[in-house]
Amino acid sequence: MTDPALDVITFILTVRSFNANQALDEQDLPPEHRRVFWEGGEIERPIAATTEGIRQATGVERPWDAVSGLMFTERDDFTGAIKLADAAMAESWFFDRVGAEQLQANPTLAYAYADDVDGEVDYEEARAANRSIRADRVWIDSLLAEYFQDEEDEDMLDLVDVRAPEEIEMTLDDLVLTAAQEEEIRKIVKAIEYRDYLGAIGLREIGKLLFVGPPGTGKTTASRALAEELDLPFVEVKLSMITSQYLGETAKNVDKFFEVAKRLAPCILFIDEFDFVAKTRRSDEHAAIKRAVNTLLKSIDEVSLIRDEVLLIGATNHPDELDAAAWRRFDEIVNFPKPDEPMRADILRVVTRQMDISDFDPEEIAAATEGLTGSDLRMVLREAVLEALTENRRTVTQEDLLAAVREFEERDTLRDLDMIDGDHEALVAGGGGHSHEHH
Ligand SMILES: Nc1ncnc2c1ncn2[C@@H]1O[C@H](COP(=O)(O)OP(=O)(O)OP(=O)(O)O)[C@@H](O)[C@H]1O
Ligand SMILES: [Mg+2]
Repeated sequence: MTDPALDVITFILTVRSFNANQALDEQDLPPEHRRVFWEGGEIERPIAATTEGIRQATGVERPWDAVSGLMFTERDDFTGAIKLADAAMAESWFFDRVGAEQLQANPTLAYAYADDVDGEVDYEEARAANRSIRADRVWIDSLLAEYFQDEEDEDMLDLVDVRAPEEIEMTLDDLVLTAAQEEEIRKIVKAIEYRDYLGAIGLREIGKLLFVGPPGTGKTTASRALAEELDLPFVEVKLSMITSQYLGETAKNVDKFFEVAKRLAPCILFIDEFDFVAKTRRSDEHAAIKRAVNTLLKSIDEVSLIRDEVLLIGATNHPDELDAAAWRRFDEIVNFPKPDEPMRADILRVVTRQMDISDFDPEEIAAATEGLTGSDLRMVLREAVLEALTENRRTVTQEDLLAAVREFEERDTLRDLDMIDGDHEALVAGGGGHSHEHH
């Protein structure tokens, strides 16, 4: 479907219209176009369609080869920029090939050419539907570069992982959620949408969620998917990291990652391994770490979705270890249980959407996988696919899946073994999974 010449000309016409209309800004450029021009926190006019820029924006490796055969193009030998020798001819070539739909997806072109194509084109709508610049990696990078310039700051950026929504691969569509989880997500989406109203009526204690549940139940994935859904940058912190280096600086580091979040706001601040807080308060940890944890609790009190536009999500595998002080700072607790049988079947259906499976019966596998998490089911699937590939098969069978389930369970038994004192048969080569007669 993609036509390299059309992609290149679309880009060149966009550049041209953007330069010609001062009223347009970065929010009018499609994300793949504007990332080429976003520099130091802005787009400076005039922008130009250089060979490298076209390559980045369109993915066309040899842009000039794609359009040199058209009568209205020319290349500046010195800069390598591709230009239109005859703009009117280029436009009519373009209108022969695109309709309202393509213009609607590009606010700059919608602004410039709404009247030149058949069909309804609405510039305001196109602009509103265009993804926010805040979801772009380049936007996040330029902001971080601006605020965190010296070396010490750069070290601190190692402690947090900032992800752009455009980089998040698994979306809410890829997750099977419980009804209660969906309800919480709906609430938080509304709270963000109506945050001015909530502030006005004095409801400020909103927007701090704690996700609790065993490993592999989707806590991290759901948090990221929420960032993708809401087009918000995702700032991720692992609490155990704050102690791994610069002991004396830990309290300051905690302050800093809240600062990163406030600078990027509106955003999601995800604090993983939240049980770390409780652990350090109980044990005889270094005083610096205790100070850091107290700073953390204080910062959590001070940050607000309504005022700072930071949505805080904590996650833990050990809710039982959290003390009251940590617990009461969250206004919603969201449970991530191990999936029950119907949910396991749904997860299997979702994770196999792109695959070809013969005799696929997700219910049968769900019935055989009591106690497995979403993450475990993914692992089972991966195993089945690899196993089939060893026989050069791209089609996985139901039998492959069931075999992978059995194998997974064996793995699980191995994990529970005491490797030093154990005298379990699986620890002796030739024993384990094979059928022996020594019982
Ligand atoms: N309900 C689910 N639906 C679809 N996929 C799931 C589900 N739960 C887990 N997974 C998959 O399992 C993998 C691991 O999930 P994730 O890392 O989000 O778990 P987690 O709860 O954060 O675990 P941990 O406590 O170890 O950090 C992901 O690839 C995710 O897609
Ligand atoms: Mg996780």
